[in-house]
Amino acid sequence: MKTTDGRLTGLLAAEYGIGGARTRLGGEGENYLVSTPDGQRFVLKLCIEGQDSALLELEHVAAEALAREFADIAVPRTVLTKSGNVESMQALDGVTLRGRLLHFVEGTAWCEAGPTTSARRQEIGRCLARVTTALARVNHPAAQRSHRWDLTAAEAQRPLVAKVHDAERRRVLEQAYLLYVAGALPRLDALPQSLIHGDLSDENLLVADERVVGLLDFGDCLRNPTICELAIALSYLLLDEPDPLAAGAEIVAAYHEQSPLSVLELEILFPLICGRLAVSVSIAAERHETAPDRDAWFVSEARAWSALTRYAEIDPLKAADVLASGTGLPVFEDRSTSRASTLERRRRHFPDALSLTYRDPIKFSRGSRQFLFDQRERPHLDLYNNVCHVGHCHPRVVEAGYRQMRRLNTNTRYLYDQLAEYGERICALLPTALERCFVVNSGTEANELALRLARVHTGAEEMLVVDGAYHGHTTTMLQISPYKFMGRGGKGRAEDWVHIVPIPDGYRGKFKGQGREAGVAYGDELGRIVAALERPLAAFITESLPSCGGQIVPPEGYLETAFAHVRQAGGLCIADEVQVGFGRVGERFWGFELQNVVPDIVVLGKPIGNGHPLAAVVTTNEIAASFTNAGMEFFSTFGGNPVSCAIGTAVLDVVRDEGLQQNALRVGTRLREGLRELMKRHAVIGDVRGVGLFLGVELVRDRTTLEPATEEAALLIDELCRRGILTGTDGPHRNVIKFKGPLVLTESDADMAVRVIDDVLTAQGSR
Ligand SMILES: Cc1ncc(COP(=O)(O)O)c(C=O)c1O
Repeated sequence: MKTTDGRLTGLLAAEYGIGGARTRLGGEGENYLVSTPDGQRFVLKLCIEGQDSALLELEHVAAEALAREFADIAVPRTVLTKSGNVESMQALDGVTLRGRLLHFVEGTAWCEAGPTTSARRQEIGRCLARVTTALARVNHPAAQRSHRWDLTAAEAQRPLVAKVHDAERRRVLEQAYLLYVAGALPRLDALPQSLIHGDLSDENLLVADERVVGLLDFGDCLRNPTICELAIALSYLLLDEPDPLAAGAEIVAAYHEQSPLSVLELEILFPLICGRLAVSVSIAAERHETAPDRDAWFVSEARAWSALTRYAEIDPLKAADVLASGTGLPVFEDRSTSRASTLERRRRHFPDALSLTYRDPIKFSRGSRQFLFDQRERPHLDLYNNVCHVGHCHPRVVEAGYRQMRRLNTNTRYLYDQLAEYGERICALLPTALERCFVVNSGTEANELALRLARVHTGAEEMLVVDGAYHGHTTTMLQISPYKFMGRGGKGRAEDWVHIVPIPDGYRGKFKGQGREAGVAYGDELGRIVAALERPLAAFITESLPSCGGQIVPPEGYLETAFAHVRQAGGLCIADEVQVGFGRVGERFWGFELQNVVPDIVVLGKPIGNGHPLAAVVTTNEIAASFTNAGMEFFSTFGGNPVSCAIGTAVLDVVRDEGLQQNALRVGTRLREGLRELMKRHAVIGDVRGVGLFLGVELVRDRTTLEPATEEAALLIDELCRRGILTGTDGPHRNVIKFKGPLVLTESDADMAVRVIDDVLTAQGSR
């Protein structure tokens, strides 16, 4: 049996006809420096098991391309085997050794070359541009690949945040990933791609005096957005710089002079740099568990942490400004004024009743997908807003509105196809009996109309409303919104035609649990109130799942029982789906479908136009006919105009085409289960409930008395906001954290939210 050493000798002799002293090199693979007796030096790189020959070929092709192009920069060129192959192989005693022999490249690694000078920074900028341009001419099928360090796939390493022991470091790391995921990832598709080296780090760039003389390690070569090459290089080259952004600006300017960058590339550079550093420290965190003794794996770790910590303090807008400063290109051109001045101007001309969320209000300047960016380009993950249902500023929705606005916008007194099409699309999604639509401009208006319809149809006045409910801001809607008339500034129930029924809350209410027994009990409780009415009932209005009331999922059987009582009394059943409709609840498209009922009137709003003022009421033929027979024309100037209808149709298209209902179920379930796990560690979490992306976390000081943890809830959402996560509180005690973000949220977002909530609750000293 041969020893490894013997095998290496055999391989070198048989395949290359050389021999000599060998020393094992540091680095990730099994590499040896081979020094021959005649003074030549080579690097023998052994293949790891299963290593794809096509990838070795790719490395070879890439290095050769640079060797051909640059007389002044050395690369590790392959020494072909005696038979002309890139790869050498030797099988002995049933063991196969595969490897490659590369020419040794002389030079000092950038990280060991001492403090940089302006000349060296400019030289590296030009060199990076030249390398990128040369590699862009190389085409190889194996380049179409991904690997752990692929900067377009950095999000895959995000779960490793959990392996970082220090809470402050986790905070910094979450921030870096958030910036990458929100600020860079969605924009990568629009960028030019090419073959890149993929790891031009400060170890792989060799310098002599102020010149770059060599490039090492082509093992990470792949096709990527071209800008990733510069971003990866900058993540390492700036590590020891006292003023990293200014130093980066010099490199970027020199690069740009040689190979012009686009505004988009400049804008995503900083998020990409943060993404690369995040991957680096995440993988190091994992390796501390798997191979703590391999010092070579941790060479950049401490410096990467210190860079990430510094970068966390820098506004991404400022970073982009500085990095692009030498290019003359305008980054993030669409700027808004400072937050303080906006606040001041708003206060001058608007009433204080127009309230702001958060003790420290945020100013947003743009939105995209599940993210909102503040005026400093800091991203916030939106777990709260349900209007931007298919994602903020969804391009298909924006385009639909823009196209229609250019072509025709009129009103329902004339014929146009958009209204007809929208009616067909909405009705096709609802139970067959619901086939007549009214299109209006807001949820309030839609509920007003629903109330009118019910009263005209039944000839009755009395309304049943659920405790804690909110249905709109007009005088009548406030009269049927206990959330308002019983809440801050409210004067209690003023109208004797309004009757409050209990909220079907299986956690805090009179009947506990989610089982049918509780649902029927709540339904029968409503029945008793109906039975006691002195005048005929017009309608029972309820959100299919009460939201302002605290993200309540009514126990099974509730609406079935309640609707039966209402109908027996001659009343109509109105489902307010303003918050919960359009696939949010995951398993079904509409909230009421979870309860096996068909309402007489359904009210739609908020997500229906993804932010465009649009709402609708859909009802049966009979109810619509009663309304018509009453004789009064129905007209809303803007309601149902062609632009609104085009936008509404685009929203439905996106929900269908992007599978958003299914996504709501998948992501929502993951988020809910993650939050439920937290209950084991944080006694302050009394309940985690919800379906799809309609979730609530109720905070309590005591799980037996259910004393509401109102102050704790406020502190939690404030700190989450500071860490870039938007949530809100609601419920009668304002102790329920609401999760109802756009349906485009991802599992990675959900996991991040759970990790951060865990950290914040720990820091805030929950038991
Ligand atoms: C359940 C419900 N219904 C109706 C409305 C009123 O809708 P809008 O604000 O569009 O008038 C709201 C608004 O928050 C709501 O949550």
